[in-house]
Amino acid sequence: MMVCLFVKRFIFVLAAFCWVSGDVALAKHAGITRHYKFDIKMQNVTRLCQTKSIVTVNGQFPGPRIIAREGDRVVVKVVNHVKYNVTIHWHGVRQLRSGWADGPAYITQCPIQTGQSYVYNFTITGQRGTLFWHAHISWLRATLYGPIVILPKKGVAYPFPQPFKEVPIIFGEWWKADTEKIISQASQTGGAPNISDAFTINGLPGPLYNCSAKDSFKLKVKAGKTYLLRLINAALNDELFFSIANHSLTVVEADAVYVKPFKTNIVLITPGQTTNVLLKTTKHHPNATFLISARPYATGPAPFDNSTTAGILEYSTNKTIITTKKLPLFTPILPVFNDTSFATNFTKKLKSLANANFPANVPKKVDRRFFFTVGLGTSPCPQNQTCQGPTNNTKFAASVNNISFVQPSTALLQAHFFKQSKGVYTTDFPANPPVKFNYTGNPPSNIMVTSATKVVQLSFNSSVELVMQDTSIIGAESHPLHLHGFNFFVVGQGFGNYDPNKDPAKFNLVDPAERNTVGVPSGGWVAIRFLADNPGVWFMHCHLEVHTSWGLKMAWIVMDGKGRKQKLPPPPADLPKC
Ligand code: C2O
Ligand code: CU
Repeated sequence: MMVCLFVKRFIFVLAAFCWVSGDVALAKHAGITRHYKFDIKMQNVTRLCQTKSIVTVNGQFPGPRIIAREGDRVVVKVVNHVKYNVTIHWHGVRQLRSGWADGPAYITQCPIQTGQSYVYNFTITGQRGTLFWHAHISWLRATLYGPIVILPKKGVAYPFPQPFKEVPIIFGEWWKADTEKIISQASQTGGAPNISDAFTINGLPGPLYNCSAKDSFKLKVKAGKTYLLRLINAALNDELFFSIANHSLTVVEADAVYVKPFKTNIVLITPGQTTNVLLKTTKHHPNATFLISARPYATGPAPFDNSTTAGILEYSTNKTIITTKKLPLFTPILPVFNDTSFATNFTKKLKSLANANFPANVPKKVDRRFFFTVGLGTSPCPQNQTCQGPTNNTKFAASVNNISFVQPSTALLQAHFFKQSKGVYTTDFPANPPVKFNYTGNPPSNIMVTSATKVVQLSFNSSVELVMQDTSIIGAESHPLHLHGFNFFVVGQGFGNYDPNKDPAKFNLVDPAERNTVGVPSGGWVAIRFLADNPGVWFMHCHLEVHTSWGLKMAWIVMDGKGRKQKLPPPPADLPKC
Protein backbone atom coordinates (compact mmCIF):
# COMPACT_ATOMS: atom_id res chain seq x y z
CA MET A 1 0.00 0.00 0.00
CA MET A 2 2.75 2.44 0.96
CA VAL A 3 4.73 1.60 -2.14
CA CYS A 4 1.67 1.94 -4.26
CA LEU A 5 0.84 5.36 -2.91
CA PHE A 6 4.39 6.39 -3.54
CA VAL A 7 4.74 5.21 -7.13
CA LYS A 8 1.28 6.44 -8.04
CA ARG A 9 2.65 9.93 -8.14
CA PHE A 10 5.08 9.01 -10.87
CA ILE A 11 3.69 6.48 -13.26
CA PHE A 12 0.16 5.48 -14.09
CA VAL A 13 1.17 2.01 -15.21
CA LEU A 14 2.48 1.26 -11.75
CA ALA A 15 -0.73 2.58 -10.31
CA ALA A 16 -2.47 0.10 -12.58
CA PHE A 17 -0.33 -2.66 -11.10
CA CYS A 18 -1.38 -1.60 -7.62
CA TRP A 19 -5.00 -1.73 -8.77
CA VAL A 20 -4.60 -5.27 -10.05
CA SER A 21 -2.98 -6.25 -6.78
CA GLY A 22 -6.24 -5.36 -5.07
CA ASP A 23 -5.39 -2.04 -3.55
CA VAL A 24 -8.95 -0.79 -3.54
CA ALA A 25 -8.28 2.23 -1.38
CA LEU A 26 -5.80 3.55 -3.89
CA ALA A 27 -7.78 2.45 -6.92
CA LYS A 28 -10.69 4.58 -5.85
CA HIS A 29 -8.53 7.58 -6.49
CA ALA A 30 -6.18 6.64 -9.27
CA GLY A 31 -7.92 4.48 -11.84
CA ILE A 32 -6.04 2.37 -14.36
CA THR A 33 -4.93 2.90 -17.92
CA ARG A 34 -6.82 1.10 -20.66
CA HIS A 35 -5.14 0.68 -24.03
CA TYR A 36 -6.97 0.26 -27.31
CA LYS A 37 -5.81 0.05 -30.89
CA PHE A 38 -8.12 1.33 -33.63
CA ASP A 39 -7.06 0.25 -37.11
CA ILE A 40 -9.19 2.25 -39.54
CA LYS A 41 -9.75 -0.03 -42.49
CA MET A 42 -12.23 -0.91 -45.21
CA GLN A 43 -14.52 -3.90 -44.76
CA ASN A 44 -17.17 -5.46 -46.99
CA VAL A 45 -20.52 -5.53 -45.22
CA THR A 46 -23.81 -6.84 -46.64
CA ARG A 47 -27.10 -5.25 -45.63
CA LEU A 48 -30.45 -5.20 -47.44
CA CYS A 49 -28.98 -7.69 -49.95
CA GLN A 50 -26.27 -5.34 -51.06
CA THR A 51 -22.57 -5.55 -50.31
CA LYS A 52 -20.76 -2.33 -49.65
CA SER A 53 -17.21 -1.53 -48.65
CA ILE A 54 -17.37 0.61 -45.53
CA VAL A 55 -14.87 2.35 -43.27
CA THR A 56 -14.54 0.46 -39.98
CA VAL A 57 -12.44 0.17 -36.86
CA ASN A 58 -10.62 -3.18 -36.87
CA GLY A 59 -13.06 -4.50 -39.51
CA GLN A 60 -15.91 -4.39 -36.98
CA PHE A 61 -19.32 -2.82 -37.56
CA PRO A 62 -20.48 -1.29 -35.28
CA GLY A 63 -17.02 -0.64 -33.90
CA PRO A 64 -15.51 -2.06 -30.71
CA ARG A 65 -16.68 -1.08 -27.25
CA ILE A 66 -14.53 1.07 -25.04
CA ILE A 67 -15.01 -0.04 -21.44
CA ALA A 68 -13.56 1.94 -18.57
CA ARG A 69 -14.29 2.92 -15.01
CA GLU A 70 -14.74 6.44 -13.81
CA GLY A 71 -11.26 7.76 -13.09
CA ASP A 72 -9.51 5.55 -15.66
CA ARG A 73 -7.21 6.80 -18.34
CA VAL A 74 -8.06 5.72 -21.88
CA VAL A 75 -5.32 5.53 -24.49
CA VAL A 76 -6.38 4.77 -28.05
CA LYS A 77 -3.89 4.46 -30.87
CA VAL A 78 -5.71 5.23 -34.12
CA VAL A 79 -3.96 4.11 -37.30
CA ASN A 80 -5.44 5.25 -40.60
CA HIS A 81 -5.26 2.65 -43.40
CA VAL A 82 -7.98 4.17 -45.61
CA LYS A 83 -7.94 6.79 -48.35
CA TYR A 84 -9.96 9.28 -46.29
CA ASN A 85 -8.70 11.65 -43.63
CA VAL A 86 -9.99 10.46 -40.24
CA THR A 87 -10.49 11.74 -36.70
CA ILE A 88 -12.26 10.10 -33.77
CA HIS A 89 -14.33 11.99 -31.18
CA TRP A 90 -15.17 10.64 -27.71
CA HIS A 91 -18.63 12.07 -27.61
CA GLY A 92 -19.58 13.40 -24.18
CA VAL A 93 -16.21 12.76 -22.55
CA ARG A 94 -15.42 16.02 -20.84
CA GLN A 95 -11.74 16.07 -21.83
CA LEU A 96 -10.69 18.13 -18.81
CA ARG A 97 -7.48 19.83 -19.92
CA SER A 98 -7.11 17.22 -22.66
CA GLY A 99 -8.71 19.12 -25.52
CA TRP A 100 -6.06 17.82 -27.92
CA ALA A 101 -7.80 14.44 -27.65
CA ASP A 102 -11.32 15.69 -28.38
CA GLY A 103 -11.25 14.89 -32.08
CA PRO A 104 -13.42 17.21 -34.24
CA ALA A 105 -11.50 17.78 -37.47
CA TYR A 106 -10.09 21.29 -37.93
CA ILE A 107 -11.38 22.28 -34.48
CA THR A 108 -9.05 20.51 -32.04
CA GLN A 109 -6.81 18.70 -34.50
CA CYS A 110 -5.84 18.31 -38.11
CA PRO A 111 -7.10 14.98 -39.42
CA ILE A 112 -5.07 11.78 -39.35
CA GLN A 113 -3.98 11.32 -42.95
CA THR A 114 -3.67 8.03 -44.81
CA GLY A 115 -0.84 5.98 -43.36
CA GLN A 116 -0.56 8.18 -40.26
CA SER A 117 -1.53 7.58 -36.66
CA TYR A 118 -2.45 9.53 -33.53
CA VAL A 119 -2.76 8.46 -29.91
CA TYR A 120 -5.83 9.83 -28.10
CA ASN A 121 -5.05 10.03 -24.41
CA PHE A 122 -7.60 11.19 -21.84
CA THR A 123 -8.88 10.51 -18.35
CA ILE A 124 -12.55 10.01 -17.57
CA THR A 125 -13.25 12.28 -14.63
CA GLY A 126 -16.54 12.57 -12.75
CA GLN A 127 -18.58 10.70 -15.34
CA ARG A 128 -20.20 7.29 -15.35
CA GLY A 129 -22.79 5.83 -17.69
CA THR A 130 -22.98 5.47 -21.46
CA LEU A 131 -21.35 7.61 -24.12
CA PHE A 132 -20.06 6.74 -27.57
CA TRP A 133 -17.21 7.40 -29.93
CA HIS A 134 -17.57 8.33 -33.58
CA ALA A 135 -15.60 9.71 -36.50
CA HIS A 136 -15.71 13.51 -36.57
CA ILE A 137 -14.98 14.42 -40.15
CA SER A 138 -17.27 14.61 -43.17
CA TRP A 139 -19.91 11.85 -42.95
CA LEU A 140 -17.56 9.06 -41.89
CA ARG A 141 -19.44 8.58 -38.64
CA ALA A 142 -22.12 6.84 -40.75
CA THR A 143 -20.12 3.64 -40.20
CA LEU A 144 -17.41 4.63 -37.70
CA TYR A 145 -19.00 4.49 -34.28
CA GLY A 146 -19.14 2.37 -31.15
CA PRO A 147 -20.19 2.46 -27.47
CA ILE A 148 -18.24 3.88 -24.54
CA VAL A 149 -19.27 2.17 -21.31
CA ILE A 150 -18.14 3.96 -18.16
CA LEU A 151 -18.65 1.89 -15.04
CA PRO A 152 -18.64 3.46 -11.58
CA LYS A 153 -15.41 3.25 -9.62
CA LYS A 154 -14.62 -0.22 -8.29
CA GLY A 155 -16.76 -0.98 -5.26
CA VAL A 156 -19.22 1.84 -6.00
CA ALA A 157 -22.78 0.71 -6.75
CA TYR A 158 -25.31 2.18 -9.16
CA PRO A 159 -27.98 4.33 -7.51
CA PHE A 160 -30.50 1.75 -8.78
CA PRO A 161 -30.74 -2.04 -8.41
CA GLN A 162 -27.77 -3.88 -9.87
CA PRO A 163 -28.89 -5.24 -13.25
CA PHE A 164 -28.53 -8.90 -14.12
CA LYS A 165 -26.92 -7.95 -17.44
CA GLU A 166 -25.99 -4.83 -19.40
CA VAL A 167 -26.56 -4.53 -23.14
CA PRO A 168 -25.47 -1.64 -25.37
CA ILE A 169 -28.05 -0.83 -28.05
CA ILE A 170 -26.60 1.52 -30.61
CA PHE A 171 -28.82 2.96 -33.34
CA GLY A 172 -27.34 3.76 -36.72
CA GLU A 173 -28.43 4.86 -40.14
CA TRP A 174 -27.65 2.91 -43.29
CA TRP A 175 -27.32 4.03 -46.89
CA LYS A 176 -27.02 1.58 -49.75
CA ALA A 177 -24.86 4.15 -51.54
CA ASP A 178 -21.49 5.51 -50.44
CA THR A 179 -22.15 8.24 -47.86
CA GLU A 180 -18.97 10.14 -48.69
CA LYS A 181 -20.17 10.43 -52.30
CA ILE A 182 -23.62 11.52 -51.15
CA ILE A 183 -22.35 14.40 -49.04
CA SER A 184 -19.67 15.56 -51.46
CA GLN A 185 -22.21 15.65 -54.29
CA ALA A 186 -24.78 17.47 -52.14
CA SER A 187 -22.30 20.09 -51.04
CA GLN A 188 -21.41 20.76 -54.66
CA THR A 189 -24.97 21.14 -55.89
CA GLY A 190 -26.21 22.81 -52.72
CA GLY A 191 -29.13 20.40 -52.63
CA ALA A 192 -30.27 18.16 -49.81
CA PRO A 193 -28.30 14.91 -49.48
CA ASN A 194 -30.20 11.67 -50.10
CA ILE A 195 -32.06 10.22 -47.16
CA SER A 196 -31.00 6.87 -45.69
CA ASP A 197 -32.35 3.46 -46.68
CA ALA A 198 -32.63 2.00 -43.20
CA PHE A 199 -32.03 2.47 -39.51
CA THR A 200 -30.10 -0.14 -37.61
CA ILE A 201 -29.90 -1.61 -34.12
CA ASN A 202 -26.34 -2.70 -33.36
CA GLY A 203 -25.67 -2.54 -37.09
CA LEU A 204 -28.70 -4.62 -38.10
CA PRO A 205 -31.77 -3.18 -39.89
CA GLY A 206 -34.10 -5.96 -38.79
CA PRO A 207 -37.11 -7.81 -40.21
CA LEU A 208 -39.24 -4.88 -41.39
CA TYR A 209 -36.97 -4.17 -44.36
CA ASN A 210 -36.78 -6.13 -47.57
CA CYS A 211 -34.10 -8.77 -47.57
CA SER A 212 -33.11 -8.12 -43.98
CA ALA A 213 -34.84 -10.70 -41.76
CA LYS A 214 -31.62 -12.52 -41.02
CA ASP A 215 -29.96 -9.24 -40.05
CA SER A 216 -32.00 -8.73 -36.89
CA PHE A 217 -30.69 -7.89 -33.47
CA LYS A 218 -31.88 -10.41 -30.88
CA LEU A 219 -32.05 -9.59 -27.22
CA LYS A 220 -32.17 -12.92 -25.39
CA VAL A 221 -33.40 -12.58 -21.85
CA LYS A 222 -34.40 -14.69 -18.87
CA ALA A 223 -37.69 -14.24 -17.06
CA GLY A 224 -37.76 -12.30 -13.80
CA LYS A 225 -34.54 -10.31 -14.31
CA THR A 226 -33.55 -6.69 -14.74
CA TYR A 227 -31.46 -5.66 -17.73
CA LEU A 228 -29.67 -2.36 -18.22
CA LEU A 229 -30.00 -1.24 -21.84
CA ARG A 230 -27.45 1.36 -22.83
CA LEU A 231 -29.22 3.22 -25.65
CA ILE A 232 -27.10 5.29 -28.01
CA ASN A 233 -28.32 7.26 -31.01
CA ALA A 234 -25.46 7.22 -33.49
CA ALA A 235 -27.74 7.87 -36.48
CA LEU A 236 -26.64 10.73 -38.70
CA ASN A 237 -29.78 12.69 -39.30
CA ASP A 238 -32.71 11.41 -37.28
CA GLU A 239 -34.05 11.62 -33.77
CA LEU A 240 -35.67 8.33 -32.81
CA PHE A 241 -38.55 7.00 -30.78
CA PHE A 242 -37.74 3.66 -29.18
CA SER A 243 -40.00 1.09 -27.58
CA ILE A 244 -40.27 -2.60 -26.69
CA ALA A 245 -43.68 -4.24 -27.07
CA ASN A 246 -45.49 -4.99 -23.78
CA HIS A 247 -42.57 -3.86 -21.61
CA SER A 248 -42.16 -0.65 -19.74
CA LEU A 249 -38.73 0.90 -19.25
CA THR A 250 -37.25 2.89 -16.39
CA VAL A 251 -34.96 5.72 -17.45
CA VAL A 252 -32.03 6.01 -15.03
CA GLU A 253 -29.31 7.95 -16.84
CA ALA A 254 -28.87 10.33 -19.75
CA ASP A 255 -25.58 11.44 -21.35
CA ALA A 256 -23.56 9.74 -18.59
CA VAL A 257 -25.38 11.53 -15.77
CA TYR A 258 -27.83 9.73 -13.48
CA VAL A 259 -31.39 11.04 -13.57
CA LYS A 260 -34.36 10.66 -11.24
CA PRO A 261 -35.75 7.31 -12.40
CA PHE A 262 -39.05 7.40 -14.25
CA LYS A 263 -41.14 4.85 -16.12
CA THR A 264 -42.03 5.11 -19.76
CA ASN A 265 -43.04 2.86 -22.64
CA ILE A 266 -41.27 5.03 -25.19
CA VAL A 267 -37.90 6.76 -25.17
CA LEU A 268 -37.00 9.71 -27.40
CA ILE A 269 -33.33 9.88 -28.22
CA THR A 270 -31.68 12.41 -30.52
CA PRO A 271 -28.44 11.85 -32.40
CA GLY A 272 -25.69 12.50 -29.87
CA GLN A 273 -27.77 11.48 -26.88
CA THR A 274 -27.39 8.34 -24.78
CA THR A 275 -29.95 6.97 -22.35
CA ASN A 276 -29.71 4.10 -19.90
CA VAL A 277 -32.95 2.28 -19.19
CA LEU A 278 -33.82 -0.66 -16.97
CA LEU A 279 -35.86 -3.39 -18.60
CA LYS A 280 -37.65 -5.70 -16.19
CA THR A 281 -38.58 -8.99 -17.81
CA THR A 282 -41.85 -10.70 -16.97
CA LYS A 283 -41.91 -12.98 -13.94
CA HIS A 284 -42.59 -16.09 -15.99
CA HIS A 285 -41.81 -17.04 -19.55
CA PRO A 286 -44.49 -15.16 -21.52
CA ASN A 287 -44.74 -17.65 -24.41
CA ALA A 288 -44.41 -14.75 -26.81
CA THR A 289 -41.74 -12.67 -28.51
CA PHE A 290 -41.63 -8.91 -28.64
CA LEU A 291 -40.47 -6.42 -31.21
CA ILE A 292 -37.91 -3.80 -30.18
CA SER A 293 -38.39 -0.89 -32.55
CA ALA A 294 -37.19 2.59 -33.37
CA ARG A 295 -38.33 5.08 -35.95
CA PRO A 296 -37.86 8.82 -36.50
CA TYR A 297 -39.22 11.81 -34.70
CA ALA A 298 -39.09 14.29 -37.59
CA THR A 299 -40.29 17.88 -37.61
CA GLY A 300 -38.42 19.55 -40.47
CA PRO A 301 -39.58 20.56 -43.92
CA ALA A 302 -37.40 18.04 -45.77
CA PRO A 303 -38.20 14.43 -46.65
CA PHE A 304 -36.84 11.88 -44.17
CA ASP A 305 -36.37 8.15 -43.91
CA ASN A 306 -39.74 7.08 -42.51
CA SER A 307 -38.78 3.45 -41.98
CA THR A 308 -38.68 1.39 -38.79
CA THR A 309 -35.78 -0.65 -37.49
CA ALA A 310 -36.58 -3.60 -35.28
CA GLY A 311 -34.96 -6.25 -33.18
CA ILE A 312 -36.52 -9.12 -31.29
CA LEU A 313 -36.81 -9.67 -27.55
CA GLU A 314 -36.74 -13.39 -26.92
CA TYR A 315 -37.19 -15.19 -23.62
CA SER A 316 -35.00 -18.22 -23.22
CA THR A 317 -36.14 -21.41 -21.59
CA ASN A 318 -34.32 -24.41 -20.26
CA LYS A 319 -35.71 -26.57 -23.03
CA THR A 320 -33.12 -27.46 -25.62
CA ILE A 321 -35.38 -26.81 -28.59
CA ILE A 322 -36.40 -23.18 -28.70
CA THR A 323 -39.43 -22.73 -30.90
CA THR A 324 -39.73 -18.94 -30.88
CA LYS A 325 -40.96 -19.05 -34.46
CA LYS A 326 -44.29 -20.44 -33.36
CA LEU A 327 -44.75 -17.90 -30.57
CA PRO A 328 -46.92 -14.83 -31.14
CA LEU A 329 -44.99 -11.64 -31.88
CA PHE A 330 -46.11 -8.38 -30.29
CA THR A 331 -45.34 -4.99 -31.83
CA PRO A 332 -44.93 -1.75 -29.89
CA ILE A 333 -46.93 1.35 -30.74
CA LEU A 334 -44.69 4.33 -31.47
CA PRO A 335 -45.83 7.96 -31.66
CA VAL A 336 -46.49 9.48 -35.09
CA PHE A 337 -43.38 10.93 -36.69
CA ASN A 338 -44.11 14.55 -35.73
CA ASP A 339 -45.41 14.03 -32.19
CA THR A 340 -43.84 17.13 -30.65
CA SER A 341 -46.07 16.99 -27.58
CA PHE A 342 -44.65 13.55 -26.76
CA ALA A 343 -41.15 14.95 -27.26
CA THR A 344 -41.85 17.88 -24.94
CA ASN A 345 -43.36 15.74 -22.20
CA PHE A 346 -40.53 13.25 -22.40
CA THR A 347 -37.74 15.82 -22.11
CA LYS A 348 -39.53 17.50 -19.20
CA LYS A 349 -39.36 14.25 -17.22
CA LEU A 350 -35.57 14.19 -17.28
CA LYS A 351 -34.26 15.59 -14.00
CA SER A 352 -30.95 15.40 -12.19
CA LEU A 353 -30.73 13.30 -9.04
CA ALA A 354 -29.60 16.47 -7.24
CA ASN A 355 -28.74 14.70 -3.99
CA ALA A 356 -25.70 14.69 -1.71
CA ASN A 357 -23.83 12.09 -3.78
CA PHE A 358 -24.81 13.51 -7.14
CA PRO A 359 -25.44 17.23 -6.72
CA ALA A 360 -26.69 19.40 -9.56
CA ASN A 361 -24.17 22.23 -9.58
CA VAL A 362 -26.26 24.61 -11.64
CA PRO A 363 -24.56 28.01 -12.02
CA LYS A 364 -26.75 30.37 -10.00
CA LYS A 365 -25.21 33.60 -11.17
CA VAL A 366 -24.55 34.25 -14.83
CA ASP A 367 -21.45 36.03 -16.14
CA ARG A 368 -22.20 35.88 -19.84
CA ARG A 369 -25.59 35.70 -21.55
CA PHE A 370 -26.07 34.58 -25.13
CA PHE A 371 -29.11 34.29 -27.37
CA PHE A 372 -28.49 32.19 -30.48
CA THR A 373 -30.92 31.54 -33.29
CA VAL A 374 -30.45 28.12 -34.87
CA GLY A 375 -31.98 27.14 -38.16
CA LEU A 376 -31.78 26.90 -41.89
CA GLY A 377 -31.19 29.47 -44.62
CA THR A 378 -29.58 29.81 -47.98
CA SER A 379 -26.19 30.74 -49.34
CA PRO A 380 -25.35 32.04 -52.81
CA CYS A 381 -24.58 29.74 -55.70
CA PRO A 382 -21.03 30.09 -57.02
CA GLN A 383 -20.80 31.79 -60.42
CA ASN A 384 -21.05 29.63 -63.55
CA GLN A 385 -22.87 26.93 -61.57
CA THR A 386 -26.48 25.97 -61.07
CA CYS A 387 -27.52 25.06 -57.56
CA GLN A 388 -30.30 22.90 -56.17
CA GLY A 389 -30.99 24.63 -52.87
CA PRO A 390 -34.39 25.56 -51.46
CA THR A 391 -34.90 28.76 -53.44
CA ASN A 392 -34.06 29.70 -57.00
CA ASN A 393 -30.40 28.90 -57.66
CA THR A 394 -29.18 28.97 -54.07
CA LYS A 395 -27.54 26.44 -51.79
CA PHE A 396 -28.96 25.02 -48.58
CA ALA A 397 -27.26 26.56 -45.56
CA ALA A 398 -27.73 26.49 -41.81
CA SER A 399 -26.51 28.93 -39.22
CA VAL A 400 -26.19 30.09 -35.64
CA ASN A 401 -27.07 33.79 -35.31
CA ASN A 402 -27.02 33.85 -39.09
CA ILE A 403 -23.35 32.82 -39.19
CA SER A 404 -22.80 29.69 -41.22
CA PHE A 405 -19.54 28.31 -39.87
CA VAL A 406 -16.75 27.91 -42.40
CA GLN A 407 -14.40 25.11 -41.57
CA PRO A 408 -10.83 26.44 -41.39
CA SER A 409 -7.97 24.62 -43.11
CA THR A 410 -5.96 24.36 -39.91
CA ALA A 411 -7.13 23.37 -36.42
CA LEU A 412 -8.58 26.18 -34.28
CA LEU A 413 -7.02 24.79 -31.12
CA GLN A 414 -3.53 24.90 -32.61
CA ALA A 415 -4.10 28.43 -33.90
CA HIS A 416 -5.34 29.45 -30.44
CA PHE A 417 -2.61 27.72 -28.45
CA PHE A 418 0.23 29.09 -30.58
CA LYS A 419 -1.40 32.51 -30.83
CA GLN A 420 -1.73 32.30 -34.62
CA SER A 421 -5.41 33.09 -35.01
CA LYS A 422 -4.85 35.68 -37.72
CA GLY A 423 -6.48 34.53 -40.94
CA VAL A 424 -7.91 31.45 -39.18
CA TYR A 425 -10.72 32.78 -36.99
CA THR A 426 -12.09 35.94 -35.39
CA THR A 427 -13.51 36.28 -31.88
CA ASP A 428 -16.51 38.43 -32.82
CA PHE A 429 -19.20 35.76 -32.89
CA PRO A 430 -22.39 37.72 -32.15
CA ALA A 431 -23.98 37.25 -28.71
CA ASN A 432 -27.39 38.06 -30.23
CA PRO A 433 -28.98 37.70 -33.66
CA PRO A 434 -27.76 40.44 -36.02
CA VAL A 435 -31.36 41.18 -37.03
CA LYS A 436 -34.34 40.80 -34.73
CA PHE A 437 -37.44 39.25 -36.31
CA ASN A 438 -40.35 37.04 -35.36
CA TYR A 439 -38.20 33.90 -35.18
CA THR A 440 -41.07 31.45 -35.22
CA GLY A 441 -43.42 33.48 -37.41
CA ASN A 442 -43.23 34.39 -41.08
CA PRO A 443 -39.54 34.38 -42.05
CA PRO A 444 -37.89 37.59 -43.28
CA SER A 445 -37.56 38.08 -47.04
CA ASN A 446 -33.78 37.83 -46.94
CA ILE A 447 -32.76 34.39 -45.69
CA MET A 448 -29.14 34.47 -46.87
CA VAL A 449 -26.62 33.51 -44.20
CA THR A 450 -23.19 35.03 -43.63
CA SER A 451 -20.32 32.58 -43.98
CA ALA A 452 -17.42 33.02 -41.56
CA THR A 453 -15.20 31.33 -38.98
CA LYS A 454 -16.14 33.15 -35.80
CA VAL A 455 -15.84 32.03 -32.19
CA VAL A 456 -16.88 33.24 -28.75
CA GLN A 457 -14.06 33.78 -26.29
CA LEU A 458 -14.76 33.07 -22.60
CA SER A 459 -12.57 33.65 -19.60
CA PHE A 460 -11.81 30.67 -17.40
CA ASN A 461 -14.57 29.75 -14.94
CA SER A 462 -17.10 32.17 -16.34
CA SER A 463 -20.66 30.95 -16.09
CA VAL A 464 -22.67 31.01 -19.28
CA GLU A 465 -26.37 31.12 -19.98
CA LEU A 466 -27.29 30.31 -23.55
CA VAL A 467 -30.77 30.44 -25.02
CA MET A 468 -31.09 28.65 -28.34
CA GLN A 469 -34.03 29.70 -30.44
CA ASP A 470 -35.29 27.67 -33.39
CA THR A 471 -36.27 29.68 -36.47
CA SER A 472 -39.01 28.92 -38.97
CA ILE A 473 -36.80 29.88 -41.91
CA ILE A 474 -37.48 27.24 -44.58
CA GLY A 475 -39.29 25.35 -41.79
CA ALA A 476 -39.33 25.01 -38.02
CA GLU A 477 -37.40 21.96 -36.90
CA SER A 478 -36.04 20.35 -33.77
CA HIS A 479 -32.23 20.64 -33.66
CA PRO A 480 -30.25 18.42 -31.27
CA LEU A 481 -27.46 20.79 -30.24
CA HIS A 482 -24.30 19.21 -28.88
CA LEU A 483 -21.61 20.99 -26.88
CA HIS A 484 -18.11 19.53 -26.66
CA GLY A 485 -16.05 19.71 -23.46
CA PHE A 486 -18.92 20.35 -21.03
CA ASN A 487 -22.13 19.10 -19.59
CA PHE A 488 -24.77 21.79 -19.38
CA PHE A 489 -27.96 22.12 -17.39
CA VAL A 490 -31.22 22.36 -19.32
CA VAL A 491 -32.85 25.07 -17.22
CA GLY A 492 -35.82 25.95 -19.41
CA GLN A 493 -37.65 25.36 -22.65
CA GLY A 494 -40.73 26.66 -24.40
CA PHE A 495 -42.51 27.29 -27.67
CA GLY A 496 -42.65 30.43 -29.76
CA ASN A 497 -40.15 33.23 -29.21
CA TYR A 498 -38.15 33.31 -25.99
CA ASP A 499 -39.21 36.16 -23.73
CA PRO A 500 -36.23 37.43 -21.69
CA ASN A 501 -38.58 39.25 -19.32
CA LYS A 502 -41.00 36.45 -18.48
CA ASP A 503 -39.33 33.11 -19.20
CA PRO A 504 -36.35 33.16 -16.77
CA ALA A 505 -38.77 33.19 -13.82
CA LYS A 506 -39.77 29.64 -14.78
CA PHE A 507 -36.21 28.29 -14.99
CA ASN A 508 -35.43 25.16 -13.01
CA LEU A 509 -32.19 25.83 -11.12
CA VAL A 510 -32.77 23.00 -8.63
CA ASP A 511 -32.73 19.69 -10.48
CA PRO A 512 -32.52 20.32 -14.24
CA ALA A 513 -31.20 17.57 -16.52
CA GLU A 514 -27.45 17.72 -17.03
CA ARG A 515 -26.34 16.62 -20.45
CA ASN A 516 -24.23 17.25 -23.53
CA THR A 517 -26.91 17.22 -26.25
CA VAL A 518 -30.33 18.84 -26.11
CA GLY A 519 -33.11 19.18 -28.64
CA VAL A 520 -33.97 22.79 -29.42
CA PRO A 521 -37.75 22.34 -29.69
CA SER A 522 -39.29 22.70 -33.13
CA GLY A 523 -40.67 26.24 -33.21
CA GLY A 524 -39.39 26.91 -29.70
CA TRP A 525 -36.34 27.57 -27.53
CA VAL A 526 -34.21 25.94 -24.88
CA ALA A 527 -32.08 27.59 -22.18
CA ILE A 528 -28.89 25.99 -20.87
CA ARG A 529 -26.24 26.96 -18.34
CA PHE A 530 -22.68 25.77 -17.98
CA LEU A 531 -19.48 26.71 -16.22
CA ALA A 532 -16.55 27.35 -18.56
CA ASP A 533 -14.06 25.46 -16.39
CA ASN A 534 -12.27 23.63 -19.20
CA PRO A 535 -9.64 25.56 -21.16
CA GLY A 536 -9.56 24.83 -24.89
CA VAL A 537 -11.58 25.16 -28.07
CA TRP A 538 -14.99 23.56 -27.87
CA PHE A 539 -17.17 22.81 -30.82
CA MET A 540 -20.94 23.24 -30.63
CA HIS A 541 -23.17 22.03 -33.42
CA CYS A 542 -26.39 20.41 -34.44
CA HIS A 543 -25.94 16.65 -34.24
CA LEU A 544 -28.02 16.18 -37.39
CA GLU A 545 -25.02 15.73 -39.64
CA VAL A 546 -26.80 17.29 -42.61
CA HIS A 547 -27.23 20.53 -40.66
CA THR A 548 -23.62 20.46 -39.48
CA SER A 549 -22.55 20.08 -43.10
CA TRP A 550 -24.63 23.16 -43.94
CA GLY A 551 -22.88 25.20 -41.25
CA LEU A 552 -25.00 24.86 -38.08
CA LYS A 553 -21.89 24.92 -35.90
CA MET A 554 -19.65 27.31 -33.97
CA ALA A 555 -16.92 27.14 -31.36
CA TRP A 556 -16.20 28.50 -27.89
CA ILE A 557 -12.68 29.31 -26.81
CA VAL A 558 -12.16 29.03 -23.07
CA MET A 559 -8.99 30.84 -22.05
CA ASP A 560 -6.51 29.46 -19.53
CA GLY A 561 -7.00 30.33 -15.89
CA LYS A 562 -4.23 31.58 -13.61
CA GLY A 563 -3.76 28.39 -11.58
CA ARG A 564 -1.41 25.59 -12.56
CA LYS A 565 -4.34 23.21 -13.09
CA GLN A 566 -6.31 25.75 -15.09
CA LYS A 567 -4.18 25.68 -18.20
CA LEU A 568 -4.29 23.55 -21.31
CA PRO A 569 -1.01 21.59 -21.58
CA PRO A 570 0.93 21.72 -24.86
CA PRO A 571 -0.09 19.29 -27.63
CA PRO A 572 1.28 15.75 -27.78
CA ALA A 573 4.23 15.28 -30.15
CA ASP A 574 2.24 13.12 -32.57
CA LEU A 575 -0.59 15.64 -33.08
CA PRO A 576 -1.39 15.40 -36.82
CA LYS A 577 -0.39 18.21 -39.14
CA CYS A 578 -2.63 19.71 -41.80
CU1 C2O B 1 -21.00 13.58 -31.43
CU2 C2O B 1 -19.21 17.08 -32.37
O1 C2O B 1 -20.09 15.29 -31.95
CU1 CU C 1 -30.22 20.80 -36.87
